[in-house]
Amino acid sequence: MNRADAGRRRAGELQALLHHHAHRYYVLDAPEIPDAEYDRLFQELQALEEAHPELRTPDSPTQRVGGTVLEGFAKVRHKVPMLSIRTETDIEASGARNFDARVRRELGLKEGDPQVEYVAELKFDGLAINLRYENGVLVQAATRGDGEVGEDVTQNIRTIGQIPLRLGDPHPNPLPQAGEGASQDQPDPNLLPPGGEGASQQAHENSLSRLGERAVVRAIPPILEVRGEVFMRRDDFERMNESQRGKIAAGAKNEKTFVNPRNAAAGAVRQLDPAIARQRPLSFFAYGWGEIEGGPDFQTHFEVLQALKAWGFPVSERTTLATGADDLIAYHQGVGADRDRLPFDIDGVVYKVNSLALQKQLGFVTREPRWAVAHKFPAQEQLTTVESIDVYVGRTGKLTPVARLQPVFVGGVTVTNATLHNEDEVHRKDVRVGDTVIVRRAGDVIPEVVSVLPEKRVPGAAVFAMPHICPVCGSAAVREEGEADYRCTGGLFCSAQRKHAILHFAQRRALDIEGLGEKLVDQMVDAGVIRTLPDLYRLGLANLVALERMGDKSAQNVLAALETSKSTTLPRFLYGLGIRHVGESTARDLARHFGKLDGIMDAGVEQLLQVPDVGPIVAESIHAFFLQPHNREVIEQLRACGVHWEESEPAVQAPLPLAGKTVVLTGTLPTLSRDEAKELLEAAGAKVAASVSKKTDYVVAGAEAGSKLEKAQLLGVAVLDEDGLRQLLAG
Ligand code: IVH
Repeated sequence: MNRADAGRRRAGELQALLHHHAHRYYVLDAPEIPDAEYDRLFQELQALEEAHPELRTPDSPTQRVGGTVLEGFAKVRHKVPMLSIRTETDIEASGARNFDARVRRELGLKEGDPQVEYVAELKFDGLAINLRYENGVLVQAATRGDGEVGEDVTQNIRTIGQIPLRLGDPHPNPLPQAGEGASQDQPDPNLLPPGGEGASQQAHENSLSRLGERAVVRAIPPILEVRGEVFMRRDDFERMNESQRGKIAAGAKNEKTFVNPRNAAAGAVRQLDPAIARQRPLSFFAYGWGEIEGGPDFQTHFEVLQALKAWGFPVSERTTLATGADDLIAYHQGVGADRDRLPFDIDGVVYKVNSLALQKQLGFVTREPRWAVAHKFPAQEQLTTVESIDVYVGRTGKLTPVARLQPVFVGGVTVTNATLHNEDEVHRKDVRVGDTVIVRRAGDVIPEVVSVLPEKRVPGAAVFAMPHICPVCGSAAVREEGEADYRCTGGLFCSAQRKHAILHFAQRRALDIEGLGEKLVDQMVDAGVIRTLPDLYRLGLANLVALERMGDKSAQNVLAALETSKSTTLPRFLYGLGIRHVGESTARDLARHFGKLDGIMDAGVEQLLQVPDVGPIVAESIHAFFLQPHNREVIEQLRACGVHWEESEPAVQAPLPLAGKTVVLTGTLPTLSRDEAKELLEAAGAKVAASVSKKTDYVVAGAEAGSKLEKAQLLGVAVLDEDGLRQLLAG
């Protein structure tokens, strides 16, 4: 076969592959390969077509924007096409420089001519939406589709609380939101402060002083199309998937988990049943517009964004003016450094020429404007292979399967391990040794295997079997009825658990033994110098210096730190014991309630349940821990070694007025902030829950209370205002 034939064949192959994956991605919302892999294939085809233009057929995937209309939604022809955007794949600073140089060249600017002003924005990783308002009322929402024709998803978009249904309306969309709680109720730090004069005036002045242009006019255009991204926050995504896993575990047939927030968002928007769509927690940012008729006469992109914000659309706080390439580079770096801390996924930043007149002058090439570019960050999903599946034993004996991976650069770091969570997860994803998998690392979430590429599986790869004995100590590992995890039954006989137990005891928030880190504990446990916690306090200089890489001085320091740690507090000691379900705050509550360790050790489940926030599972766990003779023995010995703390009298047992009551807060109260109200309620013994159910005793509703109030009325739950709350607290 000659070179031309080989090229033609490869181009055909690539076209077929890209058609397949584009369909999976855009139409089915179920991609099989990471975006980065798709981009690579796409670029290979592009390069091939560039070198051999005769290979560029009109139906080549390089010749269209992507996405077809799903059966079932009405089609919408966009009044103004929804364009694509050129991607600068260079992840270094030169991406911004190239763009600026190109813009200057095309505008005929010479060296020494003034800098070009840009708007720099985040590139949100979601789904582009066109929102059409007529006389200030949302009449239609459409997806991008192929850029010319999209899908009418108005019903689903209406369920997104952040999208105004009517402009100039001070009330946000009152429809119920799924996953109510944190992200829906608290102000999003990424949003500009809501339409208040002060805040937008500030930004406005900033743009005025920098542009010397006229004031932003706020009259709402009779026809206004706003474009932006619908996306899902990472916390909402995790919460939703958690709940999906719960449904699947409970036997639900038609439920599935989502591979990433982008797919979850796209799936929700294109969900044919709006009732399901509304359960999915979606967010929105505006970044552009389509048709506008009869509105103010805008001069710049930034002015329009300011107006959009003033009209009630969420605009990211990170959107900013930038002058010349240097500002763009600084923006790219700044956002890159903060990427993990943002509450949602972004795949890069976008630079746009600010002046609308210059944008017009620059125009378009095929379907991409010359005045905008996307500058990408390292992908958060990549392909790699599974070299082995190991089982890790944690402090509580929990066995976690971990995929050891061919090292891969993903989300800005090299990843070599990814958690597989538990037996059910491994089987659900059917991960096997040798498999090619998609690995995802986004935010500070631990790297995860998203899915397997079944077509790349090597024949004969064995299904993973969870071991029934602990890989560290050989004790039986069991999975209790109703539990997801296998646990090693070896307890402190298991050296893995022993190591974790010692590290837990020594950590800063427990006994705070400085210098007693993982390496040292590994060495001491492996050498048999330490078996139980009290052994720590029996260490002598000779034991320590006998260890590898342990000098005289370091050994002295460890001994001194051990000595200091003996003087501690009851909450720290309790926490340090590593009782299952007893975290720092429960340890504090127990110490406050009982005052003395003996009181806790001898308490029955009923007495333990008297402690605020201690429920049946926690009480059982504490009780079971102290029933074990060897745990009592360890405590006895630690005390004998000189570990001590101050004890106090048990707290007076005045029953709290709202003990056992569950309260839900919603809306804005006249004087109390949500946190203040929550604190008062909890101090009175109430549990403050995020959502209303039959078990809710009271709903405290303030201004703009939404779905929770409706639900309370539906279920006949008592509803109070702030005065009512105060009376309740007063008993
Ligand atoms: S502007 C003419 N700005 O990236 C320019 N797009 O192809 C049109 N995106 O699917 C797009 N963040 O959904 C623009 N700040 C931003 C964006 C953004 C994300 C998405 C958009 C589109 C793709 C661009």
